[in-house]
Amino acid sequence: MSAKLPYARRALGAFVTAAAVSVPAAQAGEVEVLHWWTSGGEAEAVGTLRDLLESEGHTWKDFAVAGGAGDSAMTVLKSRAMSGNPPAAAQINGPEIQEWGELGLLANLDAVAEEGNWDELLPGVVADMMQHDGHYVAVPVNVHRVNWLWANPEVLADAGVEMPTTWDEMFSAGEALREAGYVPLAHGGQPWQDATIFESVVLSLGGADFYRDAFVELDEDSLKSDTMIESLSTFKRLRGLMDEGMPGRDWNLATGMVINGQAAMQIMGDWAKGEFTAADMQAGSDYLCAAVPGTEDAFTFNIDSFAMFKLDDEAAQQAQQTMARLVLEPEFQQTFNQIKGSIPPRTDLDMSAFDSCAQQSMADFQSSREASTLVPSFAHRMAMRSDVQGAFFDIITNYFNDESMSAEQAAERLAQAASLAF
Ligand code: BGC
Repeated sequence: MSAKLPYARRALGAFVTAAAVSVPAAQAGEVEVLHWWTSGGEAEAVGTLRDLLESEGHTWKDFAVAGGAGDSAMTVLKSRAMSGNPPAAAQINGPEIQEWGELGLLANLDAVAEEGNWDELLPGVVADMMQHDGHYVAVPVNVHRVNWLWANPEVLADAGVEMPTTWDEMFSAGEALREAGYVPLAHGGQPWQDATIFESVVLSLGGADFYRDAFVELDEDSLKSDTMIESLSTFKRLRGLMDEGMPGRDWNLATGMVINGQAAMQIMGDWAKGEFTAADMQAGSDYLCAAVPGTEDAFTFNIDSFAMFKLDDEAAQQAQQTMARLVLEPEFQQTFNQIKGSIPPRTDLDMSAFDSCAQQSMADFQSSREASTLVPSFAHRMAMRSDVQGAFFDIITNYFNDESMSAEQAAERLAQAASLAF
């Protein structure tokens, strides 16, 4: 696989592999944890893992790097690894687990996995992602669903509209909401947030097979097809439902606009639910959730996971293994996921204490696995290599913000970017 890695990454690999030998031993029993969970709901959720780890006598050294979807966190992780001093644990998701595994830097978690019976507990799609070269190198924390639409029911009612179930309904609701003085769709103009909406539109208009051809197989014909062009056009039309303050806005501030009734809706993964929960709002009454129009039968997944870096110090290794074990235990899974807005990656837990949106998510996760409509989120590092993802983000965001770029041109650029990936 290393032959497929871009040059810069191969060079980084040679450098950090050499440097890793001199990693200074971490203080006994301490785990430095790199993550990007800094919003209200996220920070509360990650605190539950810190508390559990500390209750077993280990020390949690928090290394939070703000920035939705982890782009900044990944940049910081690379520079720490390049200087031969990676953190003990890092939130690394999707195919990037393979990229780091390829560099030879990740610790083997097979013993914990065997003791905890991970092979049995985890659905194949999750277990596969956590392994490199047949060995567990990461532990899944949760499963987030990305193709969600959130709404404030009071705002919808005040404008006399219902939760939209088609794009036509979305645009006509948008007009009524605008007339009633609301921002129809809260958004933050950041590349990953743009991509989060765009991938749901593609899933809606193209279906799961088309989505996979385009974003997993990187099939050039699909990327420049009429379906892609139509998706790009619909995506850009949604811009008309957003407000002028969106450039650079963080996702949780956009959720805040729905919470405080300034905006009616937001298209965002269910970490947004963590913000509603932190604001003491109840699913189904204080806020509504529904699949993005046209994606009811499908599920775009985004799995958060922790990978452990190889360390020499035995006490630190012990702490890492303890953390990996705790992550999949029922106690952490129940508490964490209810706060975070996600569902457990193990499907054997009692969901009765979870809210109606989480129960819907679990049911849809199961049924979409059976129907082959479970697809990886490309906006959240699940579907493609990080260099291709970066190129796609640039194209999508430029297209979204540049009135002179046509949908045809954007589609052509996506196909070109894909052609360079092989
Ligand atoms: C992560 C979530 C996180 C969200 C916003 C996603 O990529 O999977 O855990 O809450 O980004 O930062």
